[in-house]
Amino acid sequence: KKVQLIKVPFGLGGGRAGTELGPESVIKAGLLNQLKSIGVELAGDSEVDCYKHFSGIGGEGKVKHLAEVQEMSRQVSEHVSQAVSSNCFPLVLGGDHSVAIGSLAGLTAHYRNLGVIWFDAHSDMNTEETTPSGNAHGMPLAVALGKAEYKLTDIPGATLINKDKLVIIGARDIDPGERELIRSEGIACFTMHDIDKLGMKTVVEQAIAIVGEGTDGVHLSFDLDSLDPLVAGGVGTPVPGGLSYREAHFAMELFAESGKITSMDIVEVNGVLDYDRRTARHAVELAASLLGKRIL
Ligand code: ARG
Ligand code: MN
Ligand code: MN
Ligand code: MN
Repeated sequence: KKVQLIKVPFGLGGGRAGTELGPESVIKAGLLNQLKSIGVELAGDSEVDCYKHFSGIGGEGKVKHLAEVQEMSRQVSEHVSQAVSSNCFPLVLGGDHSVAIGSLAGLTAHYRNLGVIWFDAHSDMNTEETTPSGNAHGMPLAVALGKAEYKLTDIPGATLINKDKLVIIGARDIDPGERELIRSEGIACFTMHDIDKLGMKTVVEQAIAIVGEGTDGVHLSFDLDSLDPLVAGGVGTPVPGGLSYREAHFAMELFAESGKITSMDIVEVNGVLDYDRRTARHAVELAASLLGKRIL
């Protein structure tokens, strides 16, 4: 399968400068060579023409820079949709996690029953009413589930995602409003506590059991802050007690073996905070593993 790279240098959904440098960072960390060396064919790459500069201020209303987030999402959706139409695996390089609104919109336009795997320290399920920060990167799942005022269906062609086909892995910082939604909607959320108890192998098996049946595509959205900040500190919202590199790497290998994943996001690599490019290099390794890289 050919990969279509979609670069989204957008950081206005997060609270700190540097995430807009994510695509450039991940490419400088060797993504293209890595894909080439494992025999993945690159169909092409495109860059979304979004608002590239960071501004901490601006954005009246409950959500900062909502208009820019909406415009970016509409464009990402088109790029992703185009990639799926040309039978390619979309690999979306963020940007902050609000870019996933665009990925999910473009994907739901094609897959009637999309499954979603969400690696994250957070559950990104705040609405305009519950967000403690006003940052859109804490909202993509609420948007995709139709729980926020801004809905995935505001984007042409998109449909909402199915709450029974969503699995969150690695969570350890969940806001009160998010907790309520996860409980009331019965969303599958494997917290760090569950991972400690069950082990990553069982967690991935259970996740695949959930999204592997009755879906026609599965999107894996990887927020680098799911990793422990001691391993990947180059993110805007680090939370202690995260995934080890081994756990994340093993999870990517298991998902690759399942043959179920049809698209991926790599988000929240902050090019300013990731001064030694270690987080970006981990992102490259994890993407390669998901796309089939084997140790032997
Ligand atoms: N829950 C917090 C908020 O809503 C943090 C969200 C962080 N999200 C992320 N994609 N890094 O602001
Ligand atoms: Mn996130
Ligand atoms: Mn996060
Ligand atoms: Mn929090």
